[in-house]
Amino acid sequence: MIDDLQLLDGFRLPALGFGLYKVPLEQTEEVVVAGVAAGYRLVDGAEFYANESQVGRALHRIDIDRSLLTITSKFWGEESQDRDAVLASFDATEKALGTAVDIYMIHWPRPNRNQYVDVWRTLIELRDAGRVRSIGVSNFTKEHVGRLIDETGEAPVLNQVELHPYLQQRELREFHAQHGIITQAWSPLGRGNVLEDPLVQEIAAAHDVTPAQAIIRWHLQLGNSVIPKSVNPERLASNRDVFGFELTDEDMARFETLEQGKHYGTTPDERQ
Ligand code: A2P
Repeated sequence: MIDDLQLLDGFRLPALGFGLYKVPLEQTEEVVVAGVAAGYRLVDGAEFYANESQVGRALHRIDIDRSLLTITSKFWGEESQDRDAVLASFDATEKALGTAVDIYMIHWPRPNRNQYVDVWRTLIELRDAGRVRSIGVSNFTKEHVGRLIDETGEAPVLNQVELHPYLQQRELREFHAQHGIITQAWSPLGRGNVLEDPLVQEIAAAHDVTPAQAIIRWHLQLGNSVIPKSVNPERLASNRDVFGFELTDEDMARFETLEQGKHYGTTPDERQ
């Protein structure tokens, strides 16, 4: 099943979720309620998004078996990356959500500080203490992930990076696949820019779907986890309606030609 990924720690992950970055505070609660009602089972959050208590309020309102949902958060670490800072951030997130964090990630490697391996050790500690089910990273390059594996013997279950048809991350995806790490795509629609692409529009029209649906389907067929963001309940629902069609090998090959190495967000080595 294309919407169900195997994690290397034995747990499973719904491939398709929705992201909460840049969802305004006053809309977050309704977006989460609408997302779960539309069938999403993966909610991607972070300390930095500053809307975790709104997520918590929404989860409180939703009548669903909690074990069916995967709730994520990420350690920001701008002020301090020390063990105490990681533990304090995790506590604050858990309190704001009012429920367990299923996957906790390091939000950015901040390589100039050279502390991400130690942060990773603290995440391992949290997981071993049973406080979080799975641990991952975000915005890590191949080199950063390689260091975690070499120095701790533990690979992240996933690495969430900017990935869309204009930035396909081919080499990183291959590296992840070799290590059983799931590639998770943020800004999977290229902040909406790829929706305008004529080739994407042509492929979408041939399947009688929207450009967003074609792109999301492309991610899923690559084996990615994907977390498109929308504040609009109709777009949120339509972005999940991608299981009734299949891109052909030729469509997939045409998508491959769109690579431009184009970043819309910050790159891993940029964020200090
Ligand atoms: P909105 O939140 O108003 O729906 P990405 O996930 O790549 O960062 O892209 C998010 C951007 O794409 C947001 O601006 C979002 O706007 C827009 N977007 C999301 N889904 C759709 C869709 N199905 N059709 C058009 N725009 C969309």
